[in-house]
Amino acid sequence: MAKFSLIVAALSVLSVIKAAPLQERQSNTTIVSESAPNPIGTLYPTGITGTLNGTIVVVPIPYTLARSLIPEKFGILKEAYQSILPALPKDQYPLIIRSVIDHDVGLNGVNLIPDFQTVHVSYPFVDLLGDGYSSFSFQEYLIISADNPFTIGGVAAYKTIPVPATFRPNGQAYAFTPNGKRGEIYYDAYAANASSNDPPIVTTKFTPQGHLRWPMELFVNVTNQPAFTDGDVGCDNQIMMFNTTLSTGMNRPVPIVGDITIKAPFFQKDRDSQYLGVAGIKVDVAFLENNLVLCKSMKGYHGTGSGDRGTGIPTRTHY
Ligand SMILES: *[C@@H]1O[C@H](CO)[C@@H](O)[C@H](O)[C@H]1NC(C)=O
Ligand SMILES: *[C@@H]1O[C@H](CO)[C@@H](O)[C@H](O)[C@H]1NC(C)=O
Ligand SMILES: *[C@@H]1O[C@H](CO)[C@@H](O)[C@H](O)[C@H]1NC(C)=O
Ligand SMILES: *[C@@H]1O[C@H](CO)[C@@H](O)[C@H](O)[C@H]1NC(C)=O
Ligand SMILES: *[C@@H]1O[C@H](CO)[C@@H](O)[C@H](O)[C@H]1NC(C)=O
Repeated sequence: MAKFSLIVAALSVLSVIKAAPLQERQSNTTIVSESAPNPIGTLYPTGITGTLNGTIVVVPIPYTLARSLIPEKFGILKEAYQSILPALPKDQYPLIIRSVIDHDVGLNGVNLIPDFQTVHVSYPFVDLLGDGYSSFSFQEYLIISADNPFTIGGVAAYKTIPVPATFRPNGQAYAFTPNGKRGEIYYDAYAANASSNDPPIVTTKFTPQGHLRWPMELFVNVTNQPAFTDGDVGCDNQIMMFNTTLSTGMNRPVPIVGDITIKAPFFQKDRDSQYLGVAGIKVDVAFLENNLVLCKSMKGYHGTGSGDRGTGIPTRTHY
């Protein structure tokens, strides 16, 4: 969900390109990104592409809690997630939390919008169409960089509630803790309107692990489910390709384990939440994005090919 910004970017692409060359559009405070360039920028000349670098983590929560947070009118496709996650206790539901930076987002090799950061709290395997088998990912809020002129409006196009934020580290997918355990990384979000001693609204801290707790198929599957807040305005079809140089070889996903805190109301409405020892991956992924797609047209959607289809990914569990 670089997404939400991108509909706006797409609509304004011509005016943006005409308005000013790239160098002039970047402010002097632009931070040099450590993320590798978009490897598919010119491969899909008519589509918006970019990269998402960061962490994707599974937070098992009680099914009853998921049921109370996902709008009542939608079913939850229990069998679908249980088939991919046989090790998940039967009374649990896989909440997905992604902390990422959108980098090198553009059209046919032309960078359109400055990098921006987000935290996504997503509810996958939602039966938006009521057909009993098509998996969609529901999202209520999007915690997103406050200083990007394109992003906030893009979020509104989906009726997602934008939460303008600042991030530490600023302008990167994550940073290494100074005196922490080996390889320990963090990424925290602060409400943009917070005063200086207010605590973060989201904190994450992870360390690398030798093996995956959840199958790679799950991460590919959930990040490729069409996403929505109000299905009547449209779905975001962000095709996350786990088969480029960003996500393979030297850059293959690294299993991680660690802790997440989320303040109310961005997950639970009435209380802050803390999850210890949750597991996922850190990875950088190239994407191609189709914005505001008619949700009904995505019935039975299962990706477009080997790089974005959960079942097309090698099922190795050791890295
Ligand atoms: C960037 O810095 C230069 C030199 O200090 C200044 O002339 C220019 O106006 C600045 N641009 C922006 C977008 O702040
Ligand atoms: C993703 O971001 C991290 C943190 O900035 C950086 O160390 C890493 O090299 C990036 N990954 C890629 C493939 O560029
Ligand atoms: C700060 O922003 C949050 C999220 O956008 C909002 O819910 C809250 O009411 C705001 N607080 C103040 C004091 O403006
Ligand atoms: C995710 O997995 C479910 C259950 O197997 C499947 O129905 C769906 O098509 C998959 N989605 C993608 C994008 O692969
Ligand atoms: C990578 O994944 C994309 C999307 O699934 C697919 O279209 C493409 O053919 C794949 N590339 C390779 C080299 O397998």
